[in-house]
Amino acid sequence: MSEQREHWGGKLGFILAAAGSAVGLGNIWKFPYITGENGGSAFIIIYLICILIVGVPVLLAEVLLGRYSQRGPISTFKLYAKKHRPFWMAVGGLFFLTGLIILSYYNVVAGWSMGYMVESVIGNISAFSSSGDAAQHFNQLVSNPLWIIFWQFLFVAAGGLIVYFGVKNGIEKIARLLMPIFFIILLSLVIWGISLEGSEKGLNFLLKPDWSTVSYKTILIALGHAFFTLSVGMGVLLVYGSYINKTDNIVFCGIMIAILDTMIALMAGLAIFTSVFAMGFNPAEGPGLVFHVLPAVFSSIPHGGIFSTLFFFLLSIAALTSTISILEMLVSSIMDETRLSRHHIVIGASALVFVLGIPSALSFGGWSHIGLWNLNIFDVMDYLSANILLPLGGMLVAIFVGWYLSKKDVLYELHQGFGLTTTKRNIGRVWLFLVKYVAPILIFLVFLSAIGVIK
Ligand code: PHE
Repeated sequence: MSEQREHWGGKLGFILAAAGSAVGLGNIWKFPYITGENGGSAFIIIYLICILIVGVPVLLAEVLLGRYSQRGPISTFKLYAKKHRPFWMAVGGLFFLTGLIILSYYNVVAGWSMGYMVESVIGNISAFSSSGDAAQHFNQLVSNPLWIIFWQFLFVAAGGLIVYFGVKNGIEKIARLLMPIFFIILLSLVIWGISLEGSEKGLNFLLKPDWSTVSYKTILIALGHAFFTLSVGMGVLLVYGSYINKTDNIVFCGIMIAILDTMIALMAGLAIFTSVFAMGFNPAEGPGLVFHVLPAVFSSIPHGGIFSTLFFFLLSIAALTSTISILEMLVSSIMDETRLSRHHIVIGASALVFVLGIPSALSFGGWSHIGLWNLNIFDVMDYLSANILLPLGGMLVAIFVGWYLSKKDVLYELHQGFGLTTTKRNIGRVWLFLVKYVAPILIFLVFLSAIGVIK
């Protein structure tokens, strides 16, 4: 290993950085639109169950594995896989690949949000008379390769700069600064949304379940999203976990991260659906919800430009604290395995991610006809990573912690910093049961049903 492993300044630093990773485009851009497409609160209920019985246990397993090994994913598997070592090292490689895929297209949407923030400041986002107008403006921008690649580049560079400064001076500092600002802006947008006339229709949509649209596919989407939104299943939390001190309570931290992430997704849903319904727009707009419908909503209210700027600033912060976590996972994996310096790796990895993202960036313009299964490159990346690679990664982490490591070591690591009262021992047992049996079996069943083996 080339440099001594850094650690977080404290527990709060870890919680904010990991919550920063978890809270991202998944919460503000994706959660509202997939909720809109999949039956509103019926979807939310399934999603919450997935978070509780699969997401949180696997999240804890991943953080635990990182703190236990004090290494990135590839080195961790190399060190502890006594049996089937090549297979497990390939799993480490799969995490790396998943990170590359997610980061490549994630930076594109992140770039849109930064571009939209500037568009809002110059007054371009508050003059639409319908969502059709707003959609046309959006399509014009995203099919312009210069616009899109410029913002994508800027976003990659911003993330690279933060990770360049390391764990404590880069990632933790930025998370401590940005997460509180994020929360205050989101809270003001929720209050604003609820105060609009007609917002009750949005509340109704979020509270009254419509079960008629629910199918196995819905469950797969909810499960995939639970992993995506918690940043579980590709080694990001493993790497963040490897920077935690042995005296910190990872059970508390893990639960806090999940609570913050879920609360923020629900708040974003509230802010968006109250305003979308109040202004009479369609909630099932798909990925364009935030970029087509909201600008039209902002156009139809007084001082819309200010809210629009705030909203896209919020989205950019959320995206930035997530992209840095993925980049850090890539960087840390290489740092563990080579003698290269952090600085060189950050520059190389950022350049690679930028280039890999270009096909996704062009998916809305010149390259929209290229793709697979009727999806463009961007959508293929999104579907593949969120619905297949992350649940698969989560299942493998659960199997590794539940079955490959010794039960004694795993529980010892869990209780370090957590404590050993009878209740805490019971929590440990329930957790291990969920990790060993419930999570892998459920994920597997959902996979089978998604590919049509079980009907
Ligand atoms: N959790 C992030 C979000 O909700 C996305 C992400 C996935 C980040 C996987 C890191 C790892 O947007």
